[in-house]
Amino acid sequence: VVASDAMAMLQVTDQYLELHDGEIVILTRESATIKTLDGEVLERAPYTAEIDASDIEKGTYAHYMLKEMDEQPAVIRNIIQHYQNENGDIELTEGVRSLVSEADRIYIVACGTSYHAGLVGKQLIERVAGVPTEVHVASEFGYNMPLLTEKPLFLFISQSGETADSRAVLVEVKKRGYKALTLTNVAGSTLSREANETMLLHAGPEIAVASTKAYTAQIAVLAILAYDIARANGKKLPFDLMTELARIATIMDSVMAQKEIFEQLADKFLKESRNAFFLGRGMDSYVGLEGALKLKEISYIQAEGYPGGELKHGPIALIEDGTPVITLVSQPNTHLNIRGNIKEVVARGAVACTISMEGMEHESDAFVLPRVEPLLTPLVTVLPLQLISYYAALARECDVDKPRNLAKSVTVE
Ligand code: AGP
Repeated sequence: VVASDAMAMLQVTDQYLELHDGEIVILTRESATIKTLDGEVLERAPYTAEIDASDIEKGTYAHYMLKEMDEQPAVIRNIIQHYQNENGDIELTEGVRSLVSEADRIYIVACGTSYHAGLVGKQLIERVAGVPTEVHVASEFGYNMPLLTEKPLFLFISQSGETADSRAVLVEVKKRGYKALTLTNVAGSTLSREANETMLLHAGPEIAVASTKAYTAQIAVLAILAYDIARANGKKLPFDLMTELARIATIMDSVMAQKEIFEQLADKFLKESRNAFFLGRGMDSYVGLEGALKLKEISYIQAEGYPGGELKHGPIALIEDGTPVITLVSQPNTHLNIRGNIKEVVARGAVACTISMEGMEHESDAFVLPRVEPLLTPLVTVLPLQLISYYAALARECDVDKPRNLAKSVTVE
């Protein structure tokens, strides 16, 4: 069997032979012979995929997406376990530590949901560790590379580790002699093998095309990375990260236990809707982008995410009677401003679905989340958006796990 992603064949085998660029494989019933383009035969031992085939079962769940959303609290706990030592301190490999310690700027490169996690990661790395960080969409970065600093570190974020746009950038930066760190869910994936170092997401296989648990895992691992850099640089740490992550896992459990609320919200706001807007400021605006992506990819509702302040610069022209506007209110420094934005859209006929956080809530809010540290709110604010998207897709009878025109691993540019 030949495939572009090991995950696709887990039910058939756990033995894989990787094929590199510029190689040819000749398959017969008995053998697989790898040759270079010059005809030289290459010896390559197969490797064993460390994924349990039972992890890719749907069990009693109707959809992989639902199962994967439900797994998020366990994934966060798993990440805590993997990245802390017996004293409860964050422990990264020496390789990762030396890579980040040499960098004068971090360039995050990713696509789709992983790019959205990167936007949160930039805030975490800059605000906690004080290291300048840029985030780039891989397909743009590849052809329009910005000026680089003297010691850049490239941070690739990819659930699959196989995304062609990101890989094209990795090939180019390696050619230029720069160092790369990959955050991925798949050990042994191309982006992991070809980067200098890897940090794994430990999220377990993600099968649904719409990424959910990988997003929250990426943010948790990025927070751990930011904290480790901060500690190495002698920065004062704003709060105890591992304790807060553990508390967040419990909050995630409680949100996931209230799914019917989001099913009702999806029915009320999105079932019959042609379009939808997601608003927020700061961290909430990044999560809004992710909410919009989730909704559009599985329910086919045209959905746009905007920072609240941008509304009056154009998008407000699209607000009319009945337009659903889903707003996140979790950032203490801007909660009054975003409330102003909600008033602006409601005055123009929008129906507001507001997800807020304790301490910033209003009576009319659709859901109030328990309070978490402002830098980590995306780990919880994204859950209502994932669930609303899921139930909107169900209500519209869409194929949740395999939306049209999309592939799980995007292995072509
Ligand atoms: C997410 O729901 C999407 N299906 C898609 O945007 C995805 O995040 C993107 O293709 C990047 O994939 P990767 O994380 O495997 O690199």
